[in-house]
Amino acid sequence: MDTQTVVILDFGSQYTQLIARRIREQNVFSVVMPCTAPLADIQAHSPIGVILSGGPSSVYDADAPEADPHILALGVPVLGVCYGLHYIVHHLGGKVRSAHKREYGHAEVIIEDCSTQLFAGLPPAIQVWMSHGDEAIELPAGFRRIASSANALAGIESAEHRIWAVQFHPEVHHTPLGPQLIRNFLNICGARGDWTPAHFIETTVASIRGKVGKGHVICGLSGGVDSSVAAMLVHRAVGSQLTCIFVNNGVLRKNEFQNVQANLRGKLGLNIVAVNASARFLEQLAGVTDPEIKRKRIGAEFIAVFEDEASRIAQETGGPEGKLEWLVQGTLYPDVIESTSVRGPSQTIKSHHNVGGLPERMKLKLIEPLRDLFKDEVRRIGRDLGMPEEILGRQPFPGPGLAVRILGEVTPERVALLQEADEIVVAEIKAAGLYTKIWQSFAVLLPVMSVGVMGDQRTYAYTAAIRAVHSEDGMTADWTPLPYDLLKRISNRIVNEVRGINRVVYDITSKPPGTIEWE
Ligand code: XMP
Repeated sequence: MDTQTVVILDFGSQYTQLIARRIREQNVFSVVMPCTAPLADIQAHSPIGVILSGGPSSVYDADAPEADPHILALGVPVLGVCYGLHYIVHHLGGKVRSAHKREYGHAEVIIEDCSTQLFAGLPPAIQVWMSHGDEAIELPAGFRRIASSANALAGIESAEHRIWAVQFHPEVHHTPLGPQLIRNFLNICGARGDWTPAHFIETTVASIRGKVGKGHVICGLSGGVDSSVAAMLVHRAVGSQLTCIFVNNGVLRKNEFQNVQANLRGKLGLNIVAVNASARFLEQLAGVTDPEIKRKRIGAEFIAVFEDEASRIAQETGGPEGKLEWLVQGTLYPDVIESTSVRGPSQTIKSHHNVGGLPERMKLKLIEPLRDLFKDEVRRIGRDLGMPEEILGRQPFPGPGLAVRILGEVTPERVALLQEADEIVVAEIKAAGLYTKIWQSFAVLLPVMSVGVMGDQRTYAYTAAIRAVHSEDGMTADWTPLPYDLLKRISNRIVNEVRGINRVVYDITSKPPGTIEWE
């Protein structure tokens, strides 16, 4: 079964990814490409339609972002959004200028021709979100106006060229009937709407099988969503030709080493080599207080352990049949988009499973089965693969683990203290029904000791900080106002149950200026 694709060309709008989401929500696959993508790369997707995104520039600026104008003559339906509308008008011989009246925010659009396919099923007036300072004042030959706002033209069409464009943003929440408009465009494109988790799994599994043949594959598991789902897909494709490596770096959560094995090996049948390298890692961390040095030591040790195991597996599976040739990584779409979009590379959250120079040194080729997916799509795929919610719903957990949540030296005693406190925080947040609604919630162990009193005893013990944040992607975050009674339960339990912590404080810093982890 082939995959129908809608290509979105990104002219730098902050909403481009949303367009991709809205299309995928209608079970149609979409990819975002930079507007500068060569025509051949766009055609390689055999798109059933093309969408030109918005963008912050003016088409008449000298440095305005450009796309290959042949994109308008591919013969597939095109939809321009905001800047995309200006681009179409400008390139096909119309005129765009700075608007006398700019429009930002809510606006009402009057649909002048309800019979046009793009507006099928919409009422004569709709609420929309506008964000533009330019306007089209002359349309290219063959185009006609199909909608207008109080101040400007809001929609154009050339049924003959199969090109449509709107001035407003149908992809944002503030355009309530936007999904209908996008569905109409997808209908124009002849989209089947069959890009479901089942379809994705079927095509991905077939493609992995074709690629890998009789070769052998390794995968680093972290216990998190991405690496687990990636491994499951490869497992479904090549079964025992996949070996997963799961390293206990000594700074995992309490019982995590056992739980992940029980879930992924016990319940899902993955072939896992579990390496308990705690002692090696903790030895590396002894006496280290500088956060950067901690990270570097953990990273280097991880690569060393992983490489040892990979080399051993390579020897065991040697021979032309079954040769170790592939490494699976759980790279997600936002990482890919961020680094290729018109805005240029921007900072992304790096996975610790990017295992140094291993692929080059061992001549391994990469399999990244989740490269086209957003996080919630990965979860949907995981559900379809029958994976437990315990894995799929997990909050992000940093590669260097609890080491970035223990300030000062990381010792076995401190790891044990934080594991206990962390378990209480997670259990209480889950019991309050908040775990999946919060981006991350955890405890931090501070090297601050203070005096307390328990019973008639004076105590002198550590402080735990509670951190809970809301975030979309980890790049920015707002601290979460947890209910007071929940904080009270967490604090009571930690102080009563974790011998060695006698004080609990609550972190009310957002990011920026803070970071999510303390380090
Ligand atoms: P910060 O603390 O920089 O964290 O605001 C942003 C997000 O990244 C996670 N994080 C990491 N994840 N390896 C990871 O896999 C790391 O070294 C690492 N450091 C931070 C952090 O948990 C948060 O979600």
